[in-house]
Amino acid sequence: MATMHMSVNAEDLSQLPKGGERIPDPGVLVIFGASGDLTKRKLMPALFHLYQADLLPKQFAIVGVARRPLGEAFAQEMRQGIIEFDGVSPDDPKLAAFVSQIGYFALNFDDPTHYDALKAELNRIAQEKDLGPDRLYYLATAPEFFSGIIENLGAHGMAKPDDGRSAVVIEKPFGHDLESARHLNRGVNAVFDENQVFRIDHYLGKETVQNLLVFRFANGIFEPIWSRNYIDHVQITVAETLGVEGRGPFYEKAGALRDVVQNHMMELLALVALEPPSSFEAESVRREKLKVWQAIPPIPILNAVRGQYGPGMVSGQHVVGYRDEERVNPESGTETYAALRLSIDNWRWAGVPFYLRAGKRMRKRATEINIVFKQPPLLIFNRISAACSCGQIQPNLLTIRIQPDEGIALRFGAKVPSSPQMAVCPVNMDFDYESAFGKSTANGYERLLLDVLLDDQTLFSHRDGVETSWALYTPILEAWASKTPDAFPNYFAGSWGPDCADRLLEKDGRTWRNDLGRK
Ligand code: BG6
Repeated sequence: MATMHMSVNAEDLSQLPKGGERIPDPGVLVIFGASGDLTKRKLMPALFHLYQADLLPKQFAIVGVARRPLGEAFAQEMRQGIIEFDGVSPDDPKLAAFVSQIGYFALNFDDPTHYDALKAELNRIAQEKDLGPDRLYYLATAPEFFSGIIENLGAHGMAKPDDGRSAVVIEKPFGHDLESARHLNRGVNAVFDENQVFRIDHYLGKETVQNLLVFRFANGIFEPIWSRNYIDHVQITVAETLGVEGRGPFYEKAGALRDVVQNHMMELLALVALEPPSSFEAESVRREKLKVWQAIPPIPILNAVRGQYGPGMVSGQHVVGYRDEERVNPESGTETYAALRLSIDNWRWAGVPFYLRAGKRMRKRATEINIVFKQPPLLIFNRISAACSCGQIQPNLLTIRIQPDEGIALRFGAKVPSSPQMAVCPVNMDFDYESAFGKSTANGYERLLLDVLLDDQTLFSHRDGVETSWALYTPILEAWASKTPDAFPNYFAGSWGPDCADRLLEKDGRTWRNDLGRK
């Protein structure tokens, strides 16, 4: 298929903002569970990017909190993480200054007697560095500690400082079903007001995900055709080549539906389907997202299928099946793949199926949204085209590549040159982020952390949104839990998933788009 590449011109680039104008107020950022991978691989590199771009306050402190007595070794470990996972040079002039702001406090999350000492230590640091009363608590621990930490912060007067701001950032998974999410929400809101709570979904930190809103609402030409009148169906795929990467015990309890579909994919779905918000502000955007989720009727169990990978070849390497992964039950019934068909019962989308699929150990890594448009009412060139090498005329297709090869492509039919018979071949107009804007080193957490520091909740989930999503998926999870699938494993590592997922579309006369990635 032929492709035209799109780029922005140099003058447009010079207009790009060089960074946020607002700088957060001084304060202390406390990371609970700081000895885990997330802090070293994602949070610290992202904070360092903000520091490099002069987007952190002039005075700040980051305090890691975890059980092990790490002391000063913690800051050095974080320095190593920034070098290793972010490719920063050890001699970077800003690295030493950044690392000197990192401290550590050893604490047993569940032990209420440790919190007074933590509070005193945070106050001491704040006084020494003149940081004022603001405190941000980032919960990067295993989820079973969330409630206890929040309760202790409340009980020790750390959640609502008299003359400052405090906020809590909560990592996923936010609950494991509707009941647990409600329970957690009740606990959180007993201590923090909703406007202090930042439920993080790292997908919303991705540039391409944010660009969905810009694409739809900063351009006049797409919105008029963004509806059941022109769109046949939508496919959203989150395909990973990775397996469970040593996270067996976590994944055994999670599975693909909880791990990726209920949160990341629901966010993507909402941004594709929402009505134009009246402003890019937290309340407006979150209200419109919620309306989309509330318009999804219960998903019939027959429209949800699951899979688990067996051994196979991924990127030329032989890999073991899920049941042979480290610390995984050899008879596990956990799904590493989930696919479903859902609908959105509102005026814009009635009758348009949305197909979602997420899987580990798939043929290719690709997170992509494909909007398949309806064919013209009369295909006057089809007979000629079908007879030539291009085959049947293809419907228009808008592909939004979230990762990798971030970009947007539009497929349309073009006349094959020198064909006297008007043969039509599909071609692509392709916008590629990297060639237009250069390679980004951001990992997505920069934007989200900056928003937390600036007290902007637009890109964070509201309690109602989280509960609505769990309400949709809990019946499926319960139905799946009640019966271990006897056909597992049902797809080879390195394939496009189980046959039952193909049948889900075949019964509607459609097929999954497996030519994912840059054309
Ligand atoms: C995480 C899941 O939330 O998202 C992982 O727990 C998954 O299992 C990851 O691999 C995917 O994120 P990304 O940014 O690599 O697409």
